[in-house]
Amino acid sequence: MSGISKEAVIGVVGAGAMGAGIAQVAAAAGHPVLLFDVQPGAAEKALGKIASDLARLVEKGKFTAEYRDDLLARITVCSQLEELAPSQLVIEAIVENVQVKRDLFQKLEALVSPEAILTSNTSSLSITEIAAALAKPERFAGLHFFNPAPTMPLVEVVSGLQTSPSVAQALFVTATAWGKQPVHVRNSPGFIVNRGARAFYGEALRVLEEHGADAPTIDALLRANGFRLGPLELIDLVGLDINLAASRGIFDAHYGDPRYKPSALVQEMVSAGRLGRKTKSGFYEYGDAPKPEPKVLPESPAPKEITIHGDLGPAEALAPMWEAAGIIVKRAEGDAGISAGVMQLKLTNGGFADANAIHFDLSLDYPNCPLIALAVGEKTPPEAIALATGLFQAIGKQVVRVQDLPGMVVARTICMLVNEAAESLHRGLSSAAEIDRAMTLGLNFPGGPLAWCDRLGAKYVLEVLDDMAALYGEERYRANILLRRMAMNQTKFHE
Ligand code: NAI
Repeated sequence: MSGISKEAVIGVVGAGAMGAGIAQVAAAAGHPVLLFDVQPGAAEKALGKIASDLARLVEKGKFTAEYRDDLLARITVCSQLEELAPSQLVIEAIVENVQVKRDLFQKLEALVSPEAILTSNTSSLSITEIAAALAKPERFAGLHFFNPAPTMPLVEVVSGLQTSPSVAQALFVTATAWGKQPVHVRNSPGFIVNRGARAFYGEALRVLEEHGADAPTIDALLRANGFRLGPLELIDLVGLDINLAASRGIFDAHYGDPRYKPSALVQEMVSAGRLGRKTKSGFYEYGDAPKPEPKVLPESPAPKEITIHGDLGPAEALAPMWEAAGIIVKRAEGDAGISAGVMQLKLTNGGFADANAIHFDLSLDYPNCPLIALAVGEKTPPEAIALATGLFQAIGKQVVRVQDLPGMVVARTICMLVNEAAESLHRGLSSAAEIDRAMTLGLNFPGGPLAWCDRLGAKYVLEVLDDMAALYGEERYRANILLRRMAMNQTKFHE
């Protein structure tokens, strides 16, 4: 099915942050846009904001003043909902309340033509539940843009239980024509991105709650792996109250599945009014003081020679780096690990470091990762710690020490992100390619979790999850069944 024609009128209801951005996107694609907000003056204000945003882009030379004037001329502010009657596609971006949305769509359905498509930009409500208020639920879908809508490329096209496949396809084609990179998603709590993101926040919060590492260290370790922001600084940016509400919604919608259990720490900080950047206090203080940095370990000499036992698996890229740094690398049989004198070093597998050994954390890209964490066993000699520190410093890495928690910081986060993506795939919410695209574009991630799993090996991911599940004794870390099958069969998500 083709998309909606360029001449088709687009109705946007709700002229807040999202509605204004969506109206701009539709007008930029050449559509006449009708913009309505229940709050008198809100739609005019939104148009003013679009105009000033566009004026800045004209100043920067991104496009001409004529282009801007034409775009603005295509947006008409409506003072009555009834004026939206000619819309062939309506995108709703009003308050996040299911009953208010259902009432609105019942009114809209009576106004627009029988062929018009009705959509909601909801982040967290059920598309099936909103649709059930309609006489023709098959013409209703989710069209979930990300903030800011004009620049974020992802749109989740969400099909409720009764959404017609041709409606979902028309929306997909239309979003593509608008310059977006849409994905198809089956209705489910949090869709792909907001649910998948819980693992990113959740593991950082667990490490912080268990005093495994401080906030600057946790964030720096994830930034070192290509994430644009660490999870805690991202929560500060979005707002702890918003994060808590989303986490609660997803937890409740899963009937209290412990995998999505919200953090008590976030709840406590919200109670204290520490909501992040907007209150100048969250996981960080936003005053005049510079942002705190992780405490890196002092310079240590590297061992002259190391022995690599077995295959380092996801960390194998380190071997040629050490050789290039002039360290003699010998190979031996045995369980994966690195030894030099008293030093016994291993990539974390989700368990504890042996009493006198050291674990190092996972990286998605060892050659380009500037920061590595070490976790030390109960009886590890200081000389061993110095040798391990020097070994990573010799290849240009900074080194931090974290507590010996299962899965350290990066490994547990990556493995839980993979687990959640595998769950989405297993439940048929979307395809492997679309899940990875959604997580990459919606969250500015350095790649898709299923592609990471293909690189790391499902066996490694499963080992980390199983060890964490065993040590914590918590359902939260149970591995997805598809991931388990793939590890057994040594298959990949993307062939
Ligand atoms: P907002 O609070 O900035 O704007 C909502 C607007 O809707 C307000 O101007 C309000 O006056 C208007 N409104 C409320 N009830 C109305 C009604 N019955 N009829 C017409 N207008 C009405 O909210 P925001 O952030 O733009 O969110 C809107 C929707 O988009 C929500 O469903 C939200 O979940 C979703 N969303 C929000 C994102 C965000 O980052 N803010 C991202 C993606 C989706």
